[in-house]
Amino acid sequence: MSVLALLRDRFAIACHRAFGLPRNYDPAIAAAKDPKFGDYQCNAALGLAKSLQRPPRTVAQNIIDHVDLGDCCDLPELAGPGFINVRLRGDFVAQQIQQMLRDDRLGLPMTQSPQRVIVDFSSPNIAKEMHVGHLRSTIIGDCLARVLAYLGHDVLRLNHVGDWGTQFGMLITYLREACPEALVHSNALELGDLVAFYRAAKQRFDEDDTFRDTARLAVVDLQTGEAIARRAWTLLCEQSRREFEKIYTLLDISLIERGESFYNPYLSAVVDDLTASGLLQQDGGAACVFLEGFTNKDGNPLPLIIQKSDGGYNYATTDLAAIRYRTTQDRADRILYVTDMGQSGHFAQVFQVARRAGWVPEGVELTHVPFGLVLGEDGKKFKTRSGDTVPLKVLLDEAIARAEKDLRDRNPEAATDFIHPTAQVIGIAAVKYADLSQNRTSNYLFSYDKMLSLQGNTAPYLLYAYVRICGIGRKGGIDLETQTLQPDQLQYFSLREPAELVLAKHLIQWGETIEAVAIELLPNRLCQYLFELSQKFNQFFEQCPVLQAEEPGRSHRLALCQATARTLKLGLGLLGIPTVAKM
Ligand code: ARG
Repeated sequence: MSVLALLRDRFAIACHRAFGLPRNYDPAIAAAKDPKFGDYQCNAALGLAKSLQRPPRTVAQNIIDHVDLGDCCDLPELAGPGFINVRLRGDFVAQQIQQMLRDDRLGLPMTQSPQRVIVDFSSPNIAKEMHVGHLRSTIIGDCLARVLAYLGHDVLRLNHVGDWGTQFGMLITYLREACPEALVHSNALELGDLVAFYRAAKQRFDEDDTFRDTARLAVVDLQTGEAIARRAWTLLCEQSRREFEKIYTLLDISLIERGESFYNPYLSAVVDDLTASGLLQQDGGAACVFLEGFTNKDGNPLPLIIQKSDGGYNYATTDLAAIRYRTTQDRADRILYVTDMGQSGHFAQVFQVARRAGWVPEGVELTHVPFGLVLGEDGKKFKTRSGDTVPLKVLLDEAIARAEKDLRDRNPEAATDFIHPTAQVIGIAAVKYADLSQNRTSNYLFSYDKMLSLQGNTAPYLLYAYVRICGIGRKGGIDLETQTLQPDQLQYFSLREPAELVLAKHLIQWGETIEAVAIELLPNRLCQYLFELSQKFNQFFEQCPVLQAEEPGRSHRLALCQATARTLKLGLGLLGIPTVAKM
């Protein structure tokens, strides 16, 4: 149990004893903002004062009188209008660190209530560029999937690829025109740069009426399963998939592709069932559901179009079919959609319709996990100098190249078989970390210089801290990565120096940090935790010699080194970042 959970439990018992509140009452425990006042706070008294009609300080004192913290904290202190401050005792912290060291999971147990969680992320569109927005979705979605799986949830990682829609009429028609041979040969064909292909197709579509008419017919062909149209569609998807796969390999992302086309067979049932439940209405030839709480510019309820007047379905229709499939066939308890903030309206509307239609079973959570834009250093939308979007492969390769240059500058003697793989890890880590370390809801500035810097809240800073700690171990003749410290070396494990205690108290917040990430879905919480951990480690190391210390202090400090190294490695791993041995 995390320290936070322990205190929550103890204070809940106190509130139960003092005021007869339910045993699971939430006593509002939070980590203290300022260590001057202690390590944690209980803020229950202020809220309770109202309902109990007693002065908050009296209520707080009453809680203090009933709380049992003898094994873990100094006497709680009443402060201000009714806060209760608690400070962890050194021996308790030491005992927690020992538990951490004995446990592969660093003292964080698996969840007692595992859920089936779907993370719908990445989800680029066929024949279109995978852009920085998809990069954010990929990195954030992967991290959340890793954290949830680590906690013991059953996670399904779905790539809701945009592989269906009217644009395929245009693409198929252009493919027939530009590379007819692709459609007769049976083996897969390289179509080259699909983005250029898309652009050329669009141009033909825009300038030529006959082309446009043919394209419309091609959509129908595709929908009815006509062989040539189908083959063209398959070719386009395969080509895109190969391009996406390069990025996923580079980023070490695993995903199950289940694109929009997968839900085609379920679309008509969406219409039928919405009709049966009376939610579907005709509006100018289109079948739609009028939304509650969404109005158009005239103040009338906004319709969500389910089926267009030409019989076609929308992005939203597919998402409705997907919700039904995911709740019934996949038996999801929680579905997370990681996309840019621009789609917040879409998801709010789709969720509303799904709920009103009764398709979301009680207890099932649908959550849009939105994120902001990636900006260039000029503060505008991230683009190349000529105004084009930057292909992701180019962007990642550039980060790796810069990491490589930096490594070579610092290690002029080093061999290429060290430089190459290390630069690859650092470059990718830098890009991932720069994204994850920002609160996802804000826009962030993409700067190679900043993300690759060895100073500040960056991946290189954390990776370097890890390398350094392992180096300390090696010098002392112990491999901190693999060797566990002997129990007898830690028999009277204690923390004497303030810097040791500060580091140790931070270490034992590991469990509550990961639990918070799983609830708030904010990877930056984990980044901040790891960054502060590295800082606190560096302060500890400045103030407390490790290898030169007398026993048993030397072993105790090595134990802190090991706990820090393992926490860093595990934490970075949950961010999708591997560690390196040297840098
Ligand atoms: N393909 C969409 C896009 O590029 C993202 C899909 C997100 N997932 C979903 N179930 N709608 O914007």
